Amino acid sequence: MGKGSGYGKVILFGEHFVVHGVPGIVSATDAKTEAEVKKTAKGIIITDERKGSKGYAEEKRQQQIESIQRMLKAMNMPKDTEMSIWIGGDLPGFSGLGASAASSVAIARAINEEFALQLTDERINEVAYEAEKAYAGNPSGIDNTAATYGGLMWFKKNTAGGPDIVEKITIKTPVEIVIGSTGKVANTKAMVEGVADRKKANPEKYYPLFKRAEKIAVEGRKALVEGNLKIVGELMNENHTLLQSIEVSSKELDLLVEIARNQGALGAKLTGGGGGGCMTALTPGKELQEKVASAIEQAGFQVLRTRIGMIKTKN
Ligand code: MEV
Repeated sequence: MGKGSGYGKVILFGEHFVVHGVPGIVSATDAKTEAEVKKTAKGIIITDERKGSKGYAEEKRQQQIESIQRMLKAMNMPKDTEMSIWIGGDLPGFSGLGASAASSVAIARAINEEFALQLTDERINEVAYEAEKAYAGNPSGIDNTAATYGGLMWFKKNTAGGPDIVEKITIKTPVEIVIGSTGKVANTKAMVEGVADRKKANPEKYYPLFKRAEKIAVEGRKALVEGNLKIVGELMNENHTLLQSIEVSSKELDLLVEIARNQGALGAKLTGGGGGGCMTALTPGKELQEKVASAIEQAGFQVLRTRIGMIKTKN
């Protein structure tokens, strides 16, 4: 049996903008998706035991099947390769946490081991990028890169098709964050396409927003490295406003952001594709983290308490 895992992720700055070549900042979560793959003679059997938003696995099933077909092609394996795939782990299936990329990386690694393909991490990342196309249509590559390597990183897609810019960001001490889930399963592909369509239709509105998103990422990186969390939080708030302007927030996301800010979070924004899915709040210290997390829970939403800057990247 082959085994593999992939990290979840939380985007601190730049989702959606990153698809169009604007830099983004992403942190892997400690929570991971695990996969096991075993050769069988019964076609492809998928057992998905991830815990998470109600309906997540069902809603994503078609995209999951397409992603595995894309993965096999990218690995030069026959499309009728027979295997049983088990998926589990402690990363919840909340939309926005990179669960699809984490599962693609985990499955690619497990296939790699079971079929002794000797793929490097770089190849696993490329395979997972191909798989991500099933979920996101035109992904930037930020999710699969975080899922493969872990850590806190700066990511800039090479829109000309060459290698992306991926740089490790080191911060002085890990910082507590809260992730709140709206409980709504979001369709990342539709969200990414919607932004691309609106940007094309209304360049005068979108150009300055994209310029500002780029500056926010640059300023956010500087503030993170310097440990200036107040500025990081303010930039997250501003990033959320930009995401509202490009129409990817929702009333539940705005509500979670408001609860987090009212409880003293230094900043809060939606994270990931939006339209449902998750929000993240910067809550340094266990006490503030707990205050924000329990307020969100009391309002009836699920949360994940985690930290950024924990895991070392390999590159
Ligand atoms: C999804 O986690 C992040 C998006 O920017 C899509 C992508 O970058 O592939 C919305």
